[in-house]
Amino acid sequence: MICGTAFHTPVRGKLEILEGVLISVDGAGRIAEIISPQNPDFAEAKTRAEAEGRLLELPANQVLLPGLVDLHIHAPQWPQLGKALDVPLEVWLQKYTFPLEARYSDLGFAREIYADLVAGLLANGTTTAVYFATIHMEASLALAQTCLEKGQRAFVGKVAMDDPDQCPDFYRDKDAATALDEMRRFIDAVRELSPANDPLVRPVITPRFIPSCTDELLQGLGKLAAETGCLIQTHCSESDWEKDFVKARFGKTDTEVLADFGLLREHTILAHSNFVTDGDLDLIRERGAAVAHCPLSNIYFANAVFPLRAALDRNVRVGLGSDISGGHSPSILDGCRHTLMAARARQGGVDPALSPADRGVAHSQITVAEAFWLATAGGGEALGLKVGKFEPGHQFDALLIDQDAPGSNIRTWPELDSPEDVFQKIVLNAMRANIKRIWVSGDYVGRSD
Ligand code: GUN
Ligand code: FE
Repeated sequence: MICGTAFHTPVRGKLEILEGVLISVDGAGRIAEIISPQNPDFAEAKTRAEAEGRLLELPANQVLLPGLVDLHIHAPQWPQLGKALDVPLEVWLQKYTFPLEARYSDLGFAREIYADLVAGLLANGTTTAVYFATIHMEASLALAQTCLEKGQRAFVGKVAMDDPDQCPDFYRDKDAATALDEMRRFIDAVRELSPANDPLVRPVITPRFIPSCTDELLQGLGKLAAETGCLIQTHCSESDWEKDFVKARFGKTDTEVLADFGLLREHTILAHSNFVTDGDLDLIRERGAAVAHCPLSNIYFANAVFPLRAALDRNVRVGLGSDISGGHSPSILDGCRHTLMAARARQGGVDPALSPADRGVAHSQITVAEAFWLATAGGGEALGLKVGKFEPGHQFDALLIDQDAPGSNIRTWPELDSPEDVFQKIVLNAMRANIKRIWVSGDYVGRSD
C-alpha cells in the first residue's frame, strides 16, 4: 500500500490531484482501492498496513504519476538515437536505417541492444511501449522476451515489408506468402510466451508502411488481423514523399487504402498522420483506430505538425510516440514538451493585426494537462488498455517522482507554487534522474540510478 500524493489526468485536459491518499494494489497488479484522508476508514487502513510492514509512505517532495505510454518506437533503431537525422525520410531509410535493421539477423547483437533499450526506456518512465522490431523472427521474439523479463508492458511487431521495388534485397521479406506465414507464427509464439488472460506482452501486426508492402501482403495482413484479433500498427501519411507515393499508386489517401485492406480497425495505431484530411480523421474515429503523435520526428521528416487539435475536437483517439530514432529522445515527458511546442508553432500568428492571417491555424494550442493526458490515459485508451490513470481496476503502472533528486531542475517554493504549478513543473522539467521508482502491474521494474 502506498500513502502519498498522486497527479493524473483521467479525463483529457483535467488535472486531478489525489492528495495524501492510500492506494492499494491487488494480487494481479491492479489498483484495488484509493482511500482519501477524508474517508472514515483511512486511519485504520493506514495503521493496519503499517503494522503489517506493507506501507510505503511518500515524503512531501515525492509524488506519483501514472506510467508513460510510448505508442510508436522502433526498437532496432536504438543504436542510432541522436544521429543520422540529416536527410529526408526516404533517404534516411535506405542510407542508414535498413542497413542497421538488417544487422538484427544476428541474435546476439539483437539481445544486447534490446536489453539496453528496454532498461533505458523503463528508466525514462515508459511503462507501456508499442514496438516495431525488424523482419527477423528470432530477434523480434527476443525483444518480446526482453520486455517480459524486465517487466515492461509491450506490443511487439515483427515488421512486414516485401516490395522489391522499395526494399533492398539485403533487408526484406522473401515474398508476401512467406511474410504472412512468418507473421502468423510470430503471433502464436508471442502469445505462448505470455499466455495470461491479460498478458504483459502482446504481438502486433506491423506492415512497415504502404510503400514497402505489396497489395498481396497488405490484403493478407488485414485478413490475419480479423482472424487473430491482433492489433495493427503502421505509418500513415507521414511525409510529402510518402503520401504522394501512396496517392500515385492508389489514387487515395493512406487512411483510405488501409481501410480498403482491412487494416484500419479498432485500436490500429497510425504513426504520424501529419497529412490526414478531415475525411480521414472521421474515418479513423469511426473505425476506433488511433494516432501516435510523434512531434519531434515530424519536424525532421515532414517539416510538419500533425493537426492535433482537429483530431481531438473530432474525438479521434490520440497518444504520443517517441518514434526512436526518427525522434532523438527516449522520454515521453520530452514528448509532452514537443507536443506543446508543436501545437504552439501550428497556431502561429493567427491575429491578422499582428501577422499575416495565413500563418497559422486558430485554436491549435493545447494545455500541459492535455499533453500529459496524451502521454498517459490517452495512450492507454488508444490501445484499449486500462493504464494511464489512478482508478480502481486500472493497472498500477506508476512512477515515483523525486523532486529533490541530485541535479533536479524542478524547483518549487511553497509560497509561490500551487499544486497545479508543481504538476506543470514536473511535466516540463522532470528528467530521468527524477524518476526514482517505476512500477508495472504493481511490480518494481526499475529505477533511474
Ligand atoms: N516509415 C517507414 N519506416 C519508417 C521508420 O523507420 N521511421 C519513420 N519515422 N518512418 C518510417
Ligand atoms: Fe516510425
